[in-house]
Amino acid sequence: MNILILHASPNHDGLTAACAEAAAEGARQAGATVELVCLNDRNVQQCQACERGWGTCLEEHRCQVLDDFQALHERILQAGGLVLVTPVYWGEMSESAKALTDRLRRCEATRREESRLLGKPFIAVAAAGGSGGGMITCLASMERWAQHTGAGVFDLLPVNRWSREYKLDAIRSAAFSMVQKHGTTAK
Ligand SMILES: Cc1cc2nc3c(=O)[nH]c(=O)nc-3n(C[C@H](O)[C@H](O)[C@H](O)COP(=O)(O)O)c2cc1C
Repeated sequence: MNILILHASPNHDGLTAACAEAAAEGARQAGATVELVCLNDRNVQQCQACERGWGTCLEEHRCQVLDDFQALHERILQAGGLVLVTPVYWGEMSESAKALTDRLRRCEATRREESRLLGKPFIAVAAAGGSGGGMITCLASMERWAQHTGAGVFDLLPVNRWSREYKLDAIRSAAFSMVQKHGTTAK
């Protein structure tokens, strides 16, 4: 099984990166091949809400804004499982996580039962390093994204500065379990 881990913080050595690394360790321990991508290192612009709100995403299920999104979209479709780790910004996903998930949702949710994310095992992690507030609202929007796209939520994990140590263990275990559970049936 190949697991794609997306992390969405500009900090390469912060809490978000540590969570992504924990997920990678767990997935590797279970025998998966892992690719880690930092969304802030990619050029993924925000959705332009083309024309009167819908562009080619509605009928053709592809985004007409050409940047790194297309390659990431393809890579996500090829992954057997997906982990998205975002820092909590204002109780929401970071801008880089939001830009990617918004555009992905438009392309795949519009396929309805034909969404290519349907049943794809998905772990969401919300890392709140400031006040520690906003983890739940952030995870709620990630869960809603999964409902719209059909991605199969394996787990939703909040982590803050105080829970860091035991939550890193939980993230490692969640990724391990996801690979164990889906490893024989997915790519
Ligand atoms: C614009 C902005 C908004 C933030 N909003 C919150 C918040 O609502 N709750 C919180 O606990 N931390 C908040 N933080 C702090 C980040 O969640 C914290 O820095 C997080 O650990 C980021 O992970 P990093 O270590 O990978 O940067 C915010 C940070 C920024 C830059």
